[in-house]
Amino acid sequence: MIKTVEWTDEGVVMIDQRLLPGEEVYPVFKTCEEVARAIEQMVVRGAPAIGVAAAMGLALGVRNTKAGSIGEIEKDFDDMCRRMSRTRPTAVNLFWAIKRMRWRFNKAKQQEASPEVVRASLIAEAKLIHSEDIESNRRMGRFGAELIAEGSTVLTHCNAGALATAGFGTALGVIRAAIESGKRISVFAGETRPFLQGARLTAWELARDGVPVTLITDGMSGHFMKRGRIDCVIVGADRIAANGDVANKIGTYMVAIAAHENNIPFYVAAPLSTIDLTLNSGDEIPIEERAAEEVTHIHGERMAPDGIAVSNPAFDVTPHRYVSAIITNKGVAREPYDMSLKSLFANCGDGAETGSV
Ligand code: MRU
Repeated sequence: MIKTVEWTDEGVVMIDQRLLPGEEVYPVFKTCEEVARAIEQMVVRGAPAIGVAAAMGLALGVRNTKAGSIGEIEKDFDDMCRRMSRTRPTAVNLFWAIKRMRWRFNKAKQQEASPEVVRASLIAEAKLIHSEDIESNRRMGRFGAELIAEGSTVLTHCNAGALATAGFGTALGVIRAAIESGKRISVFAGETRPFLQGARLTAWELARDGVPVTLITDGMSGHFMKRGRIDCVIVGADRIAANGDVANKIGTYMVAIAAHENNIPFYVAAPLSTIDLTLNSGDEIPIEERAAEEVTHIHGERMAPDGIAVSNPAFDVTPHRYVSAIITNKGVAREPYDMSLKSLFANCGDGAETGSV
């Protein structure tokens, strides 16, 4: 399995996703600030992977701090949490992971743990978030695989694979699980302008696993749906509001409309850490605006007129009425989402798992 994010004694090792598929390079990030920059600069991306990286970045920061007392460590930790929360605004997994690390810190503090124990417990928590994410994707895969018929061609958008998580993937995890269960599945991957996560990452990781994958440009998906070439759509999510509205990579909304028009199921696969019950609807989800150069340039080469006005929202929101089901690590939710999503959180222990503490 691809090692997207890994804790080592030297620091956090992450595959540099900006260089794929041309080069497979694994730099080591040695400070919390280095990890925060890696998230901003898209070395690591994808909602769950961002959360795992952020948790490891905070653990690294607490391990590195020269602070001697719990009070001093906490002051540094607060600064690191603030820094980390400014990296990217849309994927709620980032804020979930920060909250969960804060919860672990508070728990250790209440137990009057020594600085060494606080450091060790934050490292342990970050590693746990990592391993839980893989387990959660496997569970999601098992739930989702049942929705995919033998012989299906599945359209996906962006990259919701091993590269977007600690491993296995959410949307691609469902596809992998369906294949593991013996079904013959092929995939259409939308290229995902402007950052090309579909062309560079999804195509790369599926081809590497021997999954039949056909790359198309974003504008082609409606055409293939109308021609009966797509049986269902599965995408990941960056944040899901309480009513089931789904923020995901820009272009997802148009895919959902085309799927609806053609009577094709549109599934979203995401862990509970992507569901934000504090927001009533998708209108409240903050949408990241990224640099104009991502639109005007390809591989550093300008292909739009100099000085042209550009808009570059990185995500859009698909209204829940277009979502056939939301596949989570706790089961499959369907309309009415304001009830079904809430009930998934019902048996989640002391809240550590959901970040609701
Ligand atoms: O800008 P990115 O590459 O971080 O956006 C990623 C996506 O939109 C994914 O579809 C989403 O995070 C789900 S990943 C399992």
